[in-house]
Amino acid sequence: MTGAAALACEAVTVRFGALIALDKVSLNFLGVGIHSVIGPNGAGKTTLINVLSGRQRPSEGRVVLDGRDITSMQTFLRARSGIGRSFQITKIFPTLSVFENLRLAAQARAFRLQPFWRRVQGYQALADQAERVAIDIGLQGWKDAPAEQLSHGDQRALELGITLMTEPTILLLDEPLAGVGEHEIDRTMALIERVARGRTVILIEHNIDVVMKVSHRIIVMDQGAVLSIGTPDEVRRDPAVRKAYLGDDHAGA
Ligand SMILES: Nc1ncnc2c1ncn2[C@@H]1O[C@H](COP(=O)(O)OP(=O)(O)OP(=O)(O)O)[C@@H](O)[C@H]1O
Ligand SMILES: [Mg+2]
Repeated sequence: MTGAAALACEAVTVRFGALIALDKVSLNFLGVGIHSVIGPNGAGKTTLINVLSGRQRPSEGRVVLDGRDITSMQTFLRARSGIGRSFQITKIFPTLSVFENLRLAAQARAFRLQPFWRRVQGYQALADQAERVAIDIGLQGWKDAPAEQLSHGDQRALELGITLMTEPTILLLDEPLAGVGEHEIDRTMALIERVARGRTVILIEHNIDVVMKVSHRIIVMDQGAVLSIGTPDEVRRDPAVRKAYLGDDHAGA
């Protein structure tokens, strides 16, 4: 696994009419591990992920992958370059089994990536990969179960597995704990930490305790701009962050 891909945005501005969702944001995501993006509602976190994944074209500025300008590159081509994004639960086919959901994700990718006249990767290879990912996400015991029978936490794991089938080196996760029960948070985070060992994970998460625990680096956003960047300790101590976001109860930590 390379894990050394460097994704960056340079002076990215996104406007929705008069509203400035991102205001000249420059960020570098380099190195394996978890880079968390936090900030209050409307700070521009999802818009940032959308710009990185290609879903949102910036009004100004550039997105750069390993020195190459990918600002105009389509989403599926970015996925091919290793930028994976976890989709919402609706991307799971509820009546299909866990195994079929995984296999289809890889098959869709195989069809997309190869010229139509070439045979796609054989069924067996895709099936083998689906088996491996099912083990990775801890769902090997549920392989044949319809996805709709999974708990929220397991559905999140399956979503992650679907994204892993595209073999991303950079993984964009927007609130992966949303809808996950309290008792499943630790398990879901352990999975994300495991996945992050060989990859660059960009994580948006509101659960501040989780973020402080798992992040290698935290980016704090507020009103479309970067307010602070640093290790969990550095960010926790930053007076600007305490004032704008964390609140005074975190001040003494
Ligand atoms: N497609 C859009 N059209 C118009 N305004 C948008 C659009 N997408 C986002 N916005 C606005 O841009 C701002 C940033 O939104 P964004 O979704 O990036 O925030 P966020 O940090 O992800 O917030 P949350 O924590 O609530 O998910 C908000 O004011 C939002 O209403
Ligand atoms: Mg959001």
